[in-house]
Amino acid sequence: MLNVAKAPRPQSLADRVRADFPILRQLVHGRPLVYLDNAATTQKPQSVIDAMRRYYEHDNANVHRGVHALSERATEAYEGGREKVRAFIRAHSTREVIFTRNATESINLVARAWGDANVRAGDEVLITAMEHHSNIVPWQQLCARAGATLRVGPIDDRGDLILDEFARLITPRTKMIAAAHLSNALGTINPVAEIVALARKAGAAVLIDGSQAAYHMPVDVTALGADFYVFTGHKLYGPTGIGVLWGREAVLNAMPPFLGGGDMIRSVTFAGSTWNDLPYKFEAGTPHIEGGIGLGAAIDYVSAIGFDAIGAHEAALLEYGTARLSEIPGLRLIGTARRKASVLSFVLDGIHPHDIGTVVDREGVAIRTGHHCAQPVMDRFGIPATARASLAMYNTTEDIDALVAALGRVRQLLG
Ligand SMILES: Cc1ncc(COP(=O)(O)O)c(C=O)c1O
Repeated sequence: MLNVAKAPRPQSLADRVRADFPILRQLVHGRPLVYLDNAATTQKPQSVIDAMRRYYEHDNANVHRGVHALSERATEAYEGGREKVRAFIRAHSTREVIFTRNATESINLVARAWGDANVRAGDEVLITAMEHHSNIVPWQQLCARAGATLRVGPIDDRGDLILDEFARLITPRTKMIAAAHLSNALGTINPVAEIVALARKAGAAVLIDGSQAAYHMPVDVTALGADFYVFTGHKLYGPTGIGVLWGREAVLNAMPPFLGGGDMIRSVTFAGSTWNDLPYKFEAGTPHIEGGIGLGAAIDYVSAIGFDAIGAHEAALLEYGTARLSEIPGLRLIGTARRKASVLSFVLDGIHPHDIGTVVDREGVAIRTGHHCAQPVMDRFGIPATARASLAMYNTTEDIDALVAALGRVRQLLG
């Protein structure tokens, strides 16, 4: 085990970036805020807040439709956000980058538009046992509509996907394989390249849910070669209400639209309508303009820091946090995968996670407790819930020390 006394103090990145996040400069219940709920949503740097504010103060207009200066500026800024997403995930073209409300909507879009056109009675959809509800329920609904079957690849006691059993569940009827890049409940990093290769071999489509990955590690959708990759802006230091569906252009072109209305059409008569080009075919109605702009600013921010620095910082924090939590008597970490990101899910003997969350909140420490929208993961480990501390670039070893001290308080009060 790590010798905590000699643990690296990986604070240089956090020291550099903390000042960029105004929300972190506050007291909660009279104590400095320690924000450890980043897997739920990350905090926003000043540059993201400023970009959205600037849009409303100077450029607010509807996009794509106007010839006036404000509309042109708004369109340029919004489409600029799309180009930043394209470059960030290394997509071939902005035609492959569809803005949605969030990852949940992105997956629903695929399950509806692609799924209804491609999945038939007797077909199968394969997911993993560590999925977020967003990557379970839309497939369940699709299977119910189509008369198809949902299959689930198992995970082991560490929270790793059992890849050979997963592979054995693939049959000639498997039409879609959908898997998380990184589990929000366990921190497991899935072998997505292998999953994509299995799908390719079987002739199945494949969707990767990158909601948790996109803010921890670089993503190259072109190299990965899946059919769909989804993520959500608010976890990537961007605003809520904006998500991304990346899809391979040929696959998106072959799909019918999802929602109907303005912007997604080329022409409309009462006899029928024709569809706009990508990506607009899948973007009905006035989009979340300031969301696209804010997400672009978030990508600028993250790119300027770089995933080498972010990854090294978070890996050191995870190591430190794992060692510190492991010293606590009666604490069990849930999720100890071989490849893991900075998520520390745990249970404490005899104390309900909800009570843990409430007591540590009084100490100024924000963690999440519950099933983390992954009830099947809780069932797999035979627990109702966990407490989860999840780390981001601005967290410090002092934040983890504060959590450990707050857990001491939990023991004092409830243990
Ligand atoms: C792995 C994973 N997938 C999907 C989602 C859904 O994200 P959103 O609620 O922004 O759609 C989350 C959010 O926690 C997640 O962690």
